[in-house]
Amino acid sequence: MSPAPSRLLRQWKARFGIRRRHRELTAELRGLFPQLESLAPSAHCGGFDSIFYLQDFAGQRFGALRLNNPHLRQNAVHTDLPRQSPSPAERINREWDAYTALAPYWLSPRPLWRSADALACSYSPHPTLRSVIEQRFSNLDVVLTSVFNTVGQMHEVNVVHLDLSPGNVLVSPHTLETALIDFEYQPLDGRSFEENCEFDWRHLVRMIRKRATIIGQGLEIEPAIRAAIEATRYRQQIQQAIGGEATPATA
Ligand SMILES: Nc1ncnc2c1ncn2[C@@H]1O[C@H](COP(=O)(O)OP(=O)(O)OP(=O)(O)O)[C@@H](O)[C@H]1O
Ligand SMILES: [Mg+2]
Repeated sequence: MSPAPSRLLRQWKARFGIRRRHRELTAELRGLFPQLESLAPSAHCGGFDSIFYLQDFAGQRFGALRLNNPHLRQNAVHTDLPRQSPSPAERINREWDAYTALAPYWLSPRPLWRSADALACSYSPHPTLRSVIEQRFSNLDVVLTSVFNTVGQMHEVNVVHLDLSPGNVLVSPHTLETALIDFEYQPLDGRSFEENCEFDWRHLVRMIRKRATIIGQGLEIEPAIRAAIEATRYRQQIQQAIGGEATPATA
């Protein structure tokens, strides 16, 4: 699904607004990464920050850069969800801390470099879970099992995500390598780690169902979700989190 022209225009204006910072960062990062040819804009629309790819002279991507962009939207939309959107600088801190904790276990990209307003991490060549769902891979149950195992391992190293949608999970449907990205939200004060983990599970399953429903596969995806919950090491945690939550079949 391609983004609406109005979103593309907004994204282009936002990138234009930070062209000077983009030039400065390109020069600075070339000092650190001699193979860097350019910071190529990602086609992704949305979010609070601009995303660029670190590209070498052969056109190969070797990193991804998140850059705070004051020309993009500033307010979180889903304010009823148990999470808050921190300041731009805090978003960078949160993602840096998450990648630093997760990368040694191969659960996220590796953090490479950061400044107060930007962060570079290694590039993961895998598609998003969103596109794996949209392309209707036949082994979706196995893919989802790997995704659930990765999320459970993330919790075991004391990290919560709070925005686990299929667009924030990179996963190879062939090798099943999985990486979690986009740690921009932070917990609400007073919520326990366990409550935040429960929210992660509930939100992930809801967002998987939502994506499948959008492409007219709401019922078809249920057997894959059920099989993955049965197969993952974190079955109990997921079942406890989603409880008797209505599936599209029973809603
Ligand atoms: N390390 C990475 N390796 C490969 N692709 C990446 C990486 N980081 C980000 N991307 C790509 O860029 C897209 C946007 O990244 P991300 O979700 O972090 O940005 P965002 O603007 O905060 O998004 P959102 O709209 O979810 O708030 C991802 O869906 C993915 O396709
Ligand atoms: Mg995202």
